Amino acid sequence: MQVRINDVVISVNTGDITAWAGDFIVNASNSGLYGGGGVDGAIHRAGGPQISAECAVIRQKQGGVMPGQAALTTAGRLPNLGIIHTVGPIWKGGGAGEAATLAKCYISSLELACARGARSIAYPNISTGVYGFPRRLACETALAAVVDYVQSTDPGKLPLNLIAFVCFEQDNTQLYEEMLRTYVTV
Ligand code: APR
Repeated sequence: MQVRINDVVISVNTGDITAWAGDFIVNASNSGLYGGGGVDGAIHRAGGPQISAECAVIRQKQGGVMPGQAALTTAGRLPNLGIIHTVGPIWKGGGAGEAATLAKCYISSLELACARGARSIAYPNISTGVYGFPRRLACETALAAVVDYVQSTDPGKLPLNLIAFVCFEQDNTQLYEEMLRTYVTV
């Protein structure tokens, strides 16, 4: 399913994000950029050791990545232009600014991608696995952040034409589809 906001298509589908062939894949990483399980493990496995090596360089240079921030590596063996490693918030009940931090993950990844002239970017459902963020709130937060970014950026300065949400689990796909229906369908 997809909707169009200005000239940008926002799509949702179910699958393994490592099979997505667009410009930049976003990874749900950790502050140390140590490859973990979940989508992080899948991206590191599919991309190979080059990604971990570049993560180590970032770690040495800047001591890691704060929640809400993002850092770029190449995509190793994957065909994409790069991997954007962002660090989602760990859910602590909602009173620790988790939603604001999650929104920042989506925005800082978009900013990084756009600075590189990205035409397309794909997101997993950041923080909704090991980090325990409630899925409905995560979906609302992700879509609101991305739509706001698209609507508030001068179209002439936005290289993107596709923002994809690649959900691994069907319940997340359903949430995104439900939420996307509140926007204009293509
Ligand atoms: N493609 C797309 N989505 C995936 C994939 C995949 N191959 N594998 C898992 N997912 C989904 C999960 O179903 C979940 O909805 O990614 C979402 C995020 O889950 P996690 O990968 O657990 O990420 P997160 O909750 O942000 O926790 C991050 O987990 O793996 C570690 O190093 C990582 O410490 C970090 C933490």
